[in-house]
Amino acid sequence: MPSPLPSPLSALTIERGCKLRELNSFGLPALAHTLVRIRSDADVRRVLDHPELGRSPKLVLGGGSNLVLTRDPQAVVLRVEVMGRRLVEARDDAWIVEFGAGEPWHDAVAWTLDQGWPGLENLGLIPGTVGGAPVQNIGAYGIELADRFESLDAVDLVTGRSVTLSAKACAFGYRDSVFKQGGFGGLAGKSLITRLRLRLPRPWQPVRGYLDLERRMAETGNPEPDARTLFDWVCAIRRTKLPDPALLGNVGSFFKNPIVSAEQCRDITGRDPHLVHYPLPDGRYKLAAGWLIDACGWKGKSIGGAGVYERQALVLVNRGGATGAEVVMLARAIQQSVYGRFGIRLEPEPVIV
Ligand code: EPU
Repeated sequence: MPSPLPSPLSALTIERGCKLRELNSFGLPALAHTLVRIRSDADVRRVLDHPELGRSPKLVLGGGSNLVLTRDPQAVVLRVEVMGRRLVEARDDAWIVEFGAGEPWHDAVAWTLDQGWPGLENLGLIPGTVGGAPVQNIGAYGIELADRFESLDAVDLVTGRSVTLSAKACAFGYRDSVFKQGGFGGLAGKSLITRLRLRLPRPWQPVRGYLDLERRMAETGNPEPDARTLFDWVCAIRRTKLPDPALLGNVGSFFKNPIVSAEQCRDITGRDPHLVHYPLPDGRYKLAAGWLIDACGWKGKSIGGAGVYERQALVLVNRGGATGAEVVMLARAIQQSVYGRFGIRLEPEPVIV
């Protein structure tokens, strides 16, 4: 008996020998032997049931904006393209909105503002997709994703089961979550996020304590900017400091801002009084990694095609034809010189494959 042909709706889109350069914001060259476009939870289960792909290792790819590809992935690449946006609930205390993980993050932020649901304005212009946002708990200008998180749906890459995770289960930290953690209890490489729900509190409470925003308030003589104005300011500030990945490949901040004890901070400021540092509620200090790298003279320097951005030393860029190996070499050289001068180990922010 002839086996039934898969209907077009249930068929997987499988591509072989797929170039990844266009699919990572650093523009690094790599080849996926197999790439599957995931448009629903069911697509993930189809991959897991597939006789050839089911048992292969998997690499989940969203916007590729927090990824450094140093070689061709040995895994099957699952490109997340789950789309959709909707209001789940208008509660007295919040709007709950839901996005497919494949939606571009910035478009999602702009859409909520267009609908009259403020709360994400400080997170405008962050590259990447909605599904990548919880993985590294994106943050900017005083707000982190965790502050607006309601829940997310993910598919277990072994069992194919769909699960809903709370904030607690996601274990958000500074540019960190359970999705970046390997080992027992971590979910790195073990699940694929399909949908994210955000909670936008009512009434709206602006977050405008960040120095760059306070400067804008003073310059414009507008001490009470509305959400749309804050969004426009954030986008303008980012455009001046951060390169547009469409023009100059990059993954945003390459290192996390290191957190040190009060004693270590005092020790450094004793020698370098200009060190940019911020007190944390627990008595420790967060140091500006960009300042540390800048102080070591890295701004504008390059190794091969990989360089340190002239306007923000925390951002590494692809000046044309960079390889992942060159990016990693540059990052290591920066780590060594910052350690040599300040005794601080910088930790990369993106996932290195
Ligand atoms: N600085 C220098 N030289 C430099 C770069 C920075 O002296 O080359 C100093 C600046 O003068 C400033 C301080 O370092 O006083 C901090 O710089 P900035 O305000 O640009 O912020 P950042 O700490 O470098 C963080 C996030 C960004 C986020 C901004 C705004 C991290 C790793 N980075 O950057 O997030 O947009 O704050 O909130 O936390 C990202 O994660 O990819 C990212 C872009």
